[in-house]
Amino acid sequence: MKIIVTGSLGNISKPLTQELISKGHDVTVISSNTERQSDIEKLGAKAAIGTMEDVEFLTETFKGADIIYAMEALNAGVFFNHDIDFINANIQIAKNYKIAIEKSGVKNIIHLSSIGAHMESGNGILKFHHEAEKVLNQLPDDVSIKFMRPVGFYYNMHSFMPTIKSQNLIIQNYGGDDKEPWVSPLDIASVIAEEIEKPFNGRQIRYIASEEISPNEIAKTLGEAIRNPDLKWLEISDENLLNNLIKVGMNPETAKGFVEMNMARRGNVLYEDYYKNRPVLGKTKLKDFAVDFAKMYFNL
Ligand SMILES: NC(=O)c1ccc[n+]([C@@H]2O[C@H](COP(=O)([O-])OP(=O)(O)OC[C@H]3O[C@@H](n4cnc5c(N)ncnc54)[C@H](OP(=O)(O)O)[C@@H]3O)[C@@H](O)[C@H]2O)c1
Repeated sequence: MKIIVTGSLGNISKPLTQELISKGHDVTVISSNTERQSDIEKLGAKAAIGTMEDVEFLTETFKGADIIYAMEALNAGVFFNHDIDFINANIQIAKNYKIAIEKSGVKNIIHLSSIGAHMESGNGILKFHHEAEKVLNQLPDDVSIKFMRPVGFYYNMHSFMPTIKSQNLIIQNYGGDDKEPWVSPLDIASVIAEEIEKPFNGRQIRYIASEEISPNEIAKTLGEAIRNPDLKWLEISDENLLNNLIKVGMNPETAKGFVEMNMARRGNVLYEDYYKNRPVLGKTKLKDFAVDFAKMYFNL
């Protein structure tokens, strides 16, 4: 099948492209960076260089495709950019996809959404995923869409490193022994590759997770991986976390969205719909991620 993969050679899109190529599909990967072209071609895919902000480019690239994997991405450092409205910039990309899908006539879409997309409010920065699903749901009924709702990615834990190094603590506005789900992009890529080969039929939602694990268990696993078994998780107030994020330079509105997203983790509000539609867990566990985490921690 002819498949368009957005998200360049990113965390999900690279392993997804590799898996689709190995299954014999004709894959075109969209990147905003001309320098990525040869790496994309080395995988056996075609490169389409352009941006998610360019509707004409998206429309032309989508034409003739059987399936599109559509995700919203903003460039690195976006959380610290004070000139960007993170939520609206992402919603605009979803609107661009909607127009390009309609104009190009593609009928089968896999959209990367997120945990929290079922919440209209109280989900912080995840609000854009709720809105993006709403935008795509306005497409005509003959367009089938599979909404993938992964939970929090293990790689978010990289942001724990500065306070681990400076204070021997993971510091967040949630914590404790309640388990919550986490996911590896590798497991997300596998699920998407699987969904690509299954029938498309109207609008479907699928949650994706790799392991359910508590903050205190995370501190233990990461601590052991970095040879620091005393590593602890400290829960601080919402206000203190907000101040910390603003102090390190995060866009204040984005920081508020971060804090609100974490508030929804407490009491499992964020996971209400996940637990009603609990998926089979993927195979990449926190202890696997912890190996990479430790390499990065020790700059290996
Ligand atoms: N982190 C979480 O816990 C979590 C949870 C649920 C859902 N999500 C969602 O997962 C997505 C991130 O997935 P990921 O980690 O696979 O992505 P990623 O690796 O962060 O980024 C994908 C790639 O997209 C390309 N890109 C960036 N801006 C672009 C633009 N304007 N136009 C065209 N290409 C652009 C970049 O590559 P080039 O430089 O080559 O263009 C980038 O490396 C986000 O939508 C996020 O909201 C995240």
